[in-house]
Amino acid sequence: MSHAFIVRAADWIVDESAIAGIRRAVFIEEQGVPEDLEWEAADPQCRWFVAQSNRTLIGIVRLTAAGRIGRMAVLPDWRRRGVGGELLAVVLRVARELGMHRVHLSAQIHAIGFYARQGFIAEGAEYLDAGIAHRSMALNLNVNLKDSA
Ligand SMILES: CC(C)(COP(=O)(O)OP(=O)(O)OC[C@H]1O[C@@H](n2cnc3c(N)ncnc32)[C@H](O)[C@@H]1OP(=O)(O)O)[C@@H](O)C(=O)NCCC(=O)NCCS
Repeated sequence: MSHAFIVRAADWIVDESAIAGIRRAVFIEEQGVPEDLEWEAADPQCRWFVAQSNRTLIGIVRLTAAGRIGRMAVLPDWRRRGVGGELLAVVLRVARELGMHRVHLSAQIHAIGFYARQGFIAEGAEYLDAGIAHRSMALNLNVNLKDSA
């Protein structure tokens, strides 16, 4: 199996069913998230990004207009190869391009280290969402990229 992949903005019309396949495999089947909590009416209005190897989607993430990052998932066979990190880096780049000053997310406890690597800071107490322990995390994007180039 080739380990090469790309990350691109999704086209909701074209990619919706493949995105749904990853959500079903990772959140509903692997993690036991109830189906009625997984699908949201706002999904088509979000910006989605996908990781793709050959013609197969292997990872997803979404960004809302309010700067909330969510539904970060990489298929099990592809984990620990940088796919999730690249998805997160692309979302952060687009959020900066959109002029967002701050992005936030609800991190499953096991993934806190994953988000912290790209600068997210955990805030507040642990809480349960869909029966899974989470903490809020946020990242300020006020860095002037021209200064750090
Ligand atoms: C969390 C997730 C998206 C990470 O994707 P990934 O492609 O494996 O991430 P990367 O390979 O880019 O990982 C980068 C680094 O993050 C850290 N990391 C990744 N997954 C981690 C985990 N589960 N626990 C702790 N650290 C983790 C590691 O330091 C890793 O670097 P290393 O492999 O050199 O040690 C993936 O494990 C996943 O889809 N999990 C199931 C769904 C989920 O829990 N999503 C998060 C919801 S908040």
